[in-house]
Amino acid sequence: MTDKKALIRAAIEALPGSYVPYSHFHVAAALLCADGSVYTGINIENASYTPTICAERSAFFRAVNEGRREFEAIVICGGKEGVITDYCAPCGVCRQVMREFCDPETFQIILAKSEEEYREFTLKELLPMGFGPENLM
Ligand code: THU
Repeated sequence: MTDKKALIRAAIEALPGSYVPYSHFHVAAALLCADGSVYTGINIENASYTPTICAERSAFFRAVNEGRREFEAIVICGGKEGVITDYCAPCGVCRQVMREFCDPETFQIILAKSEEEYREFTLKELLPMGFGPENLM
């Protein structure tokens, strides 16, 4: 995998870009594609609330728009007013979007507080018995 610290740095550097006038809870993600490219994403909120998109899906949809289909890992970080005090786990909807494109056994979800302090999970650990594309075959 591309340097894990570099991927964490990419997510942390993206964090101030979050558009969060309502919750003030910043989230950023850095998604590593199989070809080595990296796409960052931020959460973007909306006055009507439900159109809000999470950082993880921002990153995935940017990458998929650019033709990427294979992914290795995602770093997620976040915190109130952009200050990271704890691990920021992905919501259920974002886990399901990951399930569409990623191998649950190998895709790594890295929750980072800093380049030194992070926790790693497979998608299968965070979304056991998920429903995926192969269920429709
Ligand atoms: N949020 C994310 O960006 N990712 C998650 O997985 C959890 C929640 C955002 C959505 C909203 O802008 C804010 O965090 C508070 O829910």
